[in-house]
Amino acid sequence: MRATLVFTLTFGLTSAVPFLWNGERQDHDRINVQLGPRPYFVVNDMDEGPLKKKLQSCSEGPFHTTDFTFGHRGAPLQFPEHTEESYRAAARMGAGVIECDVTFTKDKQLVCRHSQCDLHTTTNILVIPELAKKCTKPFVPADPVKGTPASATCCTSDITLAEFKTLCGKMDASVPTATNATQYIGGTPPFRTDLYSTCGTLMTHKEYIRLIDSFGLKFTPEAKTPTVKMPYLDWTQEQFAQSIIDDYKTAGISPSRVFPQSFLIDDIYYWIKHEPQFGKQAVALDEQVDTPEGYRNSTAQLPMLAKNGVKIVAPAFFALVKLDAQNRIIPSEYSIAAKKAGLDIISWSFERSGFLNHGGDYYYQYVAPVINNDGDMYTVLDVLAKQVGIRALFSDWPATVTYYANCMDL
Ligand SMILES: *[C@@H]1O[C@H](CO)[C@@H](O)[C@H](O)[C@H]1NC(C)=O
Ligand SMILES: *[C@@H]1O[C@H](CO)[C@@H](O)[C@H](O)[C@H]1NC(C)=O
Repeated sequence: MRATLVFTLTFGLTSAVPFLWNGERQDHDRINVQLGPRPYFVVNDMDEGPLKKKLQSCSEGPFHTTDFTFGHRGAPLQFPEHTEESYRAAARMGAGVIECDVTFTKDKQLVCRHSQCDLHTTTNILVIPELAKKCTKPFVPADPVKGTPASATCCTSDITLAEFKTLCGKMDASVPTATNATQYIGGTPPFRTDLYSTCGTLMTHKEYIRLIDSFGLKFTPEAKTPTVKMPYLDWTQEQFAQSIIDDYKTAGISPSRVFPQSFLIDDIYYWIKHEPQFGKQAVALDEQVDTPEGYRNSTAQLPMLAKNGVKIVAPAFFALVKLDAQNRIIPSEYSIAAKKAGLDIISWSFERSGFLNHGGDYYYQYVAPVINNDGDMYTVLDVLAKQVGIRALFSDWPATVTYYANCMDL
C-alpha cells in the first residue's frame, strides 16, 4: 500500500521533472501497467465461490508490475513471439520478468527465437525466395495423392544475423495441407489473432537486453538446446552458455536481475560453477515429467539437484497439481518433493491452451475432469500460488497472471 502511495506521488512529478529518474533504471513503477479486458472476462467466467468474489473485489486495481509474472516469449497469445512488439506488450501487462529464448545465427550471433529451427513457422522466411533457398529443408508442398503434409525446416544457423534482421516475425503456425509457401505460413489458431502480425521486429539478445533494461525489468534468457551439432565452428556448448552471460556483464546488468534457464542440466551446473552470481538464480527446466516414468524419476532426483546447488526448478504446471478423491485440485508429489528439498518452483505456461471448455490441453492433463470453462484457469492458478507456493508463472498473456498476483499481494 505504501509503495503505491509513493508511486502515485512520484509519478505525478515525473512528467514535470524527468531527471528525477536518473540512475533509477530498476524502478518498476515507471510503467503504467494496463491489464485490458481479458482478466475481467476470465473472472466473470469463474464458477461462483469465495475465489471469484475475492478476484472481483480487486477489479479497480491498482495494478503494478510483479516478478510473479514472467512474460513467456513476450505476450504470444496475441503478438508474434520474441518480437519487440511482444516484449513491449508483456511489459505493459505487468510482467516483471520477460523471456528471450536464446539461439544463434550462422555467424554465431545470439538471437531470440524459441527454437534454432522454427523460422519457417515464426517468420516470413519461406516467402523471401533468396532466404528460403538457404533453409536446411526448403518448402515442400503437401501431396494430397500420397497424403504427405507440407514441410520445411529453416534455422537461424542457416542465415547470417544481417539476413535474420530482414525477416518479419509472425504468429507461430503453419498449414500442413498447404500447396504453396504463402498458404503454409498461415494457420494461426482461432483463439490467437493475426491482428498484430504486421512484420514483428526480430531481436538479437543484446537488443532484448537493452529494451528490457529500458523498462527497468528483469531478464530470463533460455539457452535453447542447439539443433546444429556442437561444437559449432569453434564454439562448444559451454562457450555458448557463457556467451549468454557475457552479454549481461557487458551491459552492466546486475546478476540479481537475470534468471538464466536451460533444459540441459549441464548448462545449469556450468553457470553454478563458472558464473555463481548468475548460477544462483539459474532455472532448471524439467521436461522429464512428460511421461509417468520420467515424472517419477524427476521427482526422485529433486534432492540430488538441490545438493548440487540448483535453487530453482521449472516443470510445466500440469506436473505440480493433481486431483484428490473428492476431485479437489491439490499439490502433486513433485510439488511436495521440491518444497521438501528446499527448491523454489517457477512454472510454465499459462494462457497457452486456448479454450478450456473440454478439460483443457497438455497443461491441464492431471486435473482435466474438473476443467470445463475458461474461468477454471484461476482455480488452478490459486492452487499453484497458495498451496504449491510457486515463485512465478510464465504466461502467454501476462495480464491474466498480473491481475491475480496484484489481487493476492504476491
Ligand atoms: C496458394 O494457395 C492458395 C490455396 O490453394 C491459393 O488461394 C493462392 O492463390 C496460392 N498463392 C500463390 C502465391 O500461389
Ligand atoms: C528412470 O530411471 C531409471 C533408473 O535410473 C532409468 O533406467 C530410466 O531410463 C529412467 N526413465 C526415464 C523415462 O527417464
